Amino acid sequence: MTYTPAQNRYEQMKYNHCGKSGLLLPAISLGMWHNFGDVDDFQNARVMICRAFDLGITHFDLANNYGPSPGSAEQNFAKILHRDLAAHRDELIISTKAGYLMWPGPYGEWGSKKYLIASLDQSLKRLGLDYVDIFYSHRPDPDTPFEETMATLDQIVRQGKALYVGISSYDPRQTAEAVEILNQLGTRCLIHQPRYSMLDRTAENGLLDVLETHGIGCIAFCPLAQGLLTDKYLDGIPADSRAAKPHGFLQAEKITPQLIKKVRSLNELAKQRSQTLAQMALAWILKDSRVTSVIIGASKVEQIEQNVAALANTDFTSDELERIDDILKSD
Ligand SMILES: NC(=O)c1ccc[n+]([C@@H]2O[C@H](COP(=O)([O-])OP(=O)(O)OC[C@H]3O[C@@H](n4cnc5c(N)ncnc54)[C@H](OP(=O)(O)O)[C@@H]3O)[C@@H](O)[C@H]2O)c1
Repeated sequence: MTYTPAQNRYEQMKYNHCGKSGLLLPAISLGMWHNFGDVDDFQNARVMICRAFDLGITHFDLANNYGPSPGSAEQNFAKILHRDLAAHRDELIISTKAGYLMWPGPYGEWGSKKYLIASLDQSLKRLGLDYVDIFYSHRPDPDTPFEETMATLDQIVRQGKALYVGISSYDPRQTAEAVEILNQLGTRCLIHQPRYSMLDRTAENGLLDVLETHGIGCIAFCPLAQGLLTDKYLDGIPADSRAAKPHGFLQAEKITPQLIKKVRSLNELAKQRSQTLAQMALAWILKDSRVTSVIIGASKVEQIEQNVAALANTDFTSDELERIDDILKSD
């Protein structure tokens, strides 16, 4: 198969400024945490990335450890990038991260300069790229001074190995501290990547305010709570779902009857809005102008198509928002 990108690929997607930066990101981005590793079907991965690009998804999110095996999502993405999208590198925002365990010994995880520099060099090699667009500190390191981690991000930008830098899973206080250090160094923190969905609203407890104050973009990960905020688990655990896979991070025991009761009520509300639950869950995050983008995961091309169509309705009445809050608070 030879892939030719759709001519109309920029007609459907919405692009938002990432905080107070010049960078526009698609409201819906695609992440490669699951379904792009060497345990997965390569053709399916290829079809999903090409279709995503056709739908205006210009941002693809990776990390050093995505797979399994760790590193294989970057390798598979590279194959697709160089085969199908080579002529379109300047239309793409490719991110990667370092922070979680990648290799054994004291330099294979967290936030030291030794680890971050080595990891990004490995990622660039796997990706076959001279630079990534965004490089993240994947998690705060309690045992490395933020000065060291942030100075490393600053160095990476100055060396041209990343155009922008960001942080992920830093709490509001840690975020403010990291941003201040980066500002002193003269490198702006472009973006923060927190977990945020109807089922995890921690970002509302101060983080979104800090990001707005400092003009930093927010890109929400696990916006569908790994698939829980869709209709797929309403009647049990399908064999091809993340919860059924041995390497999936979604544990079947998280899918409790109480949770499914809530999901069922949300699903009814979504139907009244003429949306699927997945679409309503994405729209619900994107209604907040402080959110630049949501990073969806997908195992099938149809999921990407359905999720991008969420952008047709991201408005909520106050009654709908109250009903959602009531459902989420219910026992
Ligand atoms: N910074 C961090 O620490 C961090 C942590 C986690 C994730 N992330 C990023 O966030 C990305 C997304 O995470 P995620 O994959 O957990 O996101 P998600 O969007 O919450 O969940 C994706 C899963 O939901 C299901 N799904 C998606 N659309 C669907 C639809 N329309 N109908 C039914 N099911 C649907 C699929 O599950 P099935 O596979 O079961 O079909 C899919 O794999 C990752 O790839 C990564 O880039 C970052």
